Amino acid sequence: MSTQSGNGVRRVTVPDLREMKRRGDKIAVLTAYDYLFARLVDGAGVDVVLVGDSLGQVVLGLDSTIPVTLDDMIHHARAVRRGVERALLVVDLPFLTYQVSREDAVRNAGRVLQETCASAVKLEGGSETIARTVNAVVEAGIPVMGHLGFTPQSVNAIGVKVQGRGDGGRERLLAEAKRLEEAGAFSIVLELMPGELAAEITRSVSIPTIGIGAGVGCDGQVLVLHDMLGLNAGFQPRFLRRFAEVGELASAGVGEFVQAVKGGEYPGAEHTFE
Ligand code: KIV
Repeated sequence: MSTQSGNGVRRVTVPDLREMKRRGDKIAVLTAYDYLFARLVDGAGVDVVLVGDSLGQVVLGLDSTIPVTLDDMIHHARAVRRGVERALLVVDLPFLTYQVSREDAVRNAGRVLQETCASAVKLEGGSETIARTVNAVVEAGIPVMGHLGFTPQSVNAIGVKVQGRGDGGRERLLAEAKRLEEAGAFSIVLELMPGELAAEITRSVSIPTIGIGAGVGCDGQVLVLHDMLGLNAGFQPRFLRRFAEVGELASAGVGEFVQAVKGGEYPGAEHTFE
């Protein structure tokens, strides 16, 4: 992937993110799953666009990320790629595409880069096995973003709760972050953990941390686009700030359309070809 888009825009690179951490510049990350939202998010200046497997819940109407397939991710990432000129494009490796073997992980990560022209993949976990997988993917020349804390692909094992509390939780997450850094990950998403712990992890590694529900001490922040735009009615965890109420606006617009059609007021003469 060239570091310039077709329009000559300089793309954000993996080394740029590390440099941003060094300078203390915060990193803004949002998800996108289709062309138009990708164009909007990229145009608004985010540094990283993530095609998250949250695709499952916010686009495909699933209960979790677990049924999302590699083909689903590639299909949506190809559309997102067409809308992203500047930001670094990262694509989630979905459930069971990297856990079974390192060979699988390298092949699937490679498929993502070849078929979507993304620049990097993200995968979840920080065990020794996952760290070896991260290392194998990195050795193949594919940048890897890690993901620690609440890892949605393990929801059946860990439930939805703040991680890193209780016996050994803090030490485990600190060790996992260090392990991912040593394995060659270029950054780590920290999801749902006490702010103090996320800040300590952030200080302990040289690669940028991207928080979601992880307080104010991370090097950057990520949110699911549909959640922060108020499109996901009823989803209001403590960490989420809604930056717009697009859902309400869209619903009002659609309601007006229905009324106008049924009332015979739309289309009018001004919408009619002579
Ligand atoms: O799938 C996703 O959207 C994510 C973010 C919540 C970080 O992994």
